[in-house]
This record gives sequence, C-alpha cells and structure tokens, in this order.
Amino acid sequence: MNTLFRVALSGDFRKADDSAVYPDFDLRPLLKAPGVEIAYLDSASPLRSNDLEEFDALILLAHRFAPESAPRNGRLSIIARFGVGYDTVDVPTCTAADIALATTPDGVRRPVAVSIMTLILALTGKLMVKDKLTRQGPAGFAIRGEHMGVGLVGKVLGSLGIGNIGAELFRLAKPFDMKFIAHDPFADPELAAALGVELVGLDDVFSRADIVTVNCPLTAETRHLVNAERLALMRPTSFFINTARGPIVDQRALTDVLTRRQIAGAGLDVFEQEPTDPADPLFKLDNVIVTPHALCWSDQCFAGNGAADIRAVLDIQHGRIPRGIVNQAVLANPGFQRKLEEYRRQFAH
Ligand SMILES: NC(=O)c1ccc[n+]([C@@H]2O[C@H](COP(=O)([O-])OP(=O)(O)OC[C@H]3O[C@@H](n4cnc5c(N)ncnc54)[C@H](O)[C@@H]3O)[C@@H](O)[C@H]2O)c1
Repeated sequence: MNTLFRVALSGDFRKADDSAVYPDFDLRPLLKAPGVEIAYLDSASPLRSNDLEEFDALILLAHRFAPESAPRNGRLSIIARFGVGYDTVDVPTCTAADIALATTPDGVRRPVAVSIMTLILALTGKLMVKDKLTRQGPAGFAIRGEHMGVGLVGKVLGSLGIGNIGAELFRLAKPFDMKFIAHDPFADPELAAALGVELVGLDDVFSRADIVTVNCPLTAETRHLVNAERLALMRPTSFFINTARGPIVDQRALTDVLTRRQIAGAGLDVFEQEPTDPADPLFKLDNVIVTPHALCWSDQCFAGNGAADIRAVLDIQHGRIPRGIVNQAVLANPGFQRKLEEYRRQFAH
C-alpha cells in the first residue's frame, strides 16, 4: 500500500533552473493537501512508462502520453491535461489502463473566446495595418483612407463547433449585432436556440459566414476538414479564424486562397507545424495575423487551468469522480473503481 498520493507534473512545467515556467499556476493547494507529494518528470516526450510508475496522478502540459507511456504497475489513476485539447493523449490507452483523463474546460472557455474576438476585431478593424501606418508618420497618415475597416453589424459569424468555446464566442459576440450560424454534428439544439444560433450544414458555414471560426476538436474526422474545396466557398470579403488546432486546416490551401486574395484575411493561433517555420510563405502575407498558440495565455487562463487540474487530482485522491472526465468508459472499469475505493479508504476522512 502507498501511504502518499504522488502527483507528477510533466517536465515542461519547469525551467532548467528548477523554477516554474508558469508561476500563475498556483501549486499551493496541492502542496498543502494532506497526504500529497509532488515531483516533476524530465523532458522526455512521449512520456516513459517507467517514469510514471511511482505516481497516482499526472498533470500534463504539452508532452505526449503515447500507448507506450502507460505504466505497467497500474498505479496511475488520472491524467489531468492542462487545457482542453487532448490530441497529445492516447485515450484508448488511458481507458485500458484504468486511467481517467480530465481536461480544463472551465479554465479555457472565456480566454479562448476572448482571443477569437481579439482576432475578429483586429482583422475587421485593420489594426495591424493601421499600427504600421502610424509608425510611418505623414506618409502613413496620407494613405489611411485606403485602409477602411469593416463594420460588424448584420454580418454573419460562423463556427465549426458549438461546444465549450464556440458557445462562449457567441455569448461574447452578442452585443455586436451579428447573425450567428454554426455547424456541429453533435450540437445541442436547445443551447443553439438559446444563443440565437442557426444550425446549418458544414458547407453553409463557408458559403454564408463573413467570419468563419474553427471551434471543434482535432480528430481523424476533422483533420483537413477545412480544405481547398471548402475555402473556395468563401467570399473575397470573408475572414477565417483558427484557434482550435492547426491540422484541422489544410494550411497550404489556406495560404493559397490568402495569396490570391480569394478571402479577405485570416487570424491564426494554431498551425500544422508548431513551432512554425519562419520561411513558410504564410508569414510573408500581410492579410494574416498570427500568434504562437498562445493568444489565450493569460494570468487568469493559467490560474484557471491549474485550479481545475488540482481540483480533479484531489477529487481522485478522495475517491470522488471529477467533473468532465473525457473517457467516461473508464468509470465502469472494475480496476478503476477499485483504485477509487482504495483512495477513499485511505484519504477520505
Ligand atoms: N488555441 C488554444 O490555446 C486553445 C485552447 C483551448 C482549446 N483549444 C481548442 O479549441 C477547440 C474547441 O475546444 P472546446 O473546449 O470548445 O471543445 P468542446 O469539446 O467543448 O467543443 C467542441 C465541439 O466541436 C464539435 N464537433 C465535433 N466534431 C465536429 C465536426 N466534425 N464539425 C463541427 N463540429 C464538431 C463537438 O460536438 C463539440 O460541440 C479544440 O480544438 C481545442 O483543442 C485551443
């Protein structure tokens, strides 16, 4: 029997000098929790199974949990992803190994929706161009009339996905008096109606929206969902925004329509290759605003993600099922239930 509940943090939470990479992630609730001990892993990615054998829980930033990462001794009980994307985690492996996978929808919902609004307002308001003109002095002022922005009233805001972030985007955009459309094969029609969102077919989002945003997960089905054919449905006045995952978009096809000015512009926080290649022709274009998969990163986002992960880990330590488990199937596994019972017996008093 293990007398301590041991929590691993993936090595990318720690700098070479041992200090925290993200001090807004407040570890104190974990450090103060009775019976809990924490330790950092090294920088191996995918994670190595041997390194995980001495732990009950793992808080995971960007490193990969691959099939070969599963510890063989069966102790690990929860992986708490710092964020909501879990394309870096092999979910069937977790379920087979009696490991629950938790994410932090409460932490990212508002920050990502805000970053989409930031890109919408920057693109339609020509923010980057006008910043440049101002720095040029009189020459820039003289041509400012050539760079009119685009008003949002009555424009159509479209989303691929109306989940955690997609729904929050519509909530935030409400006072801008736009029309809302979304495509989501698993949409909740009541939620859509409550938000004033018309649910439409996939291609309709591209042909009808003045601003197309991507808010679905990266899965085998959504890889290159945004391809040349769908981008060709957009108008020369339309904008495209992706803050979800890079490979949902065929980036070559997107670069092509932007280069030919077949769409007005794009705002991109995510890319097919990350970190990006500075030589990529995409970065030569002036109708694109790019951010390094970090536009939503803020003190509040990181504090929120950290708090949600710690809540999930301490729930497991007390034998409780955390909210929002991704692999719900694990809850029925006798092996997982036995682990929870043992934690309850040991720590829940
Ligand atoms: N840029 C960042 O830093 C950042 C941060 C957090 C999340 N994200 C990404 O944002 C995306 C959305 O996150 P979320 O929390 O809203 O997830 P979510 O699971 O709550 O919502 C995703 C929605 O997409 C829908 N969907 C699934 N397949 C679809 C398809 N083929 N077409 C259209 N919709 C489909 C689902 O039904 C669901 O409603 C994810 O890709 C996530 O990885 C990015």
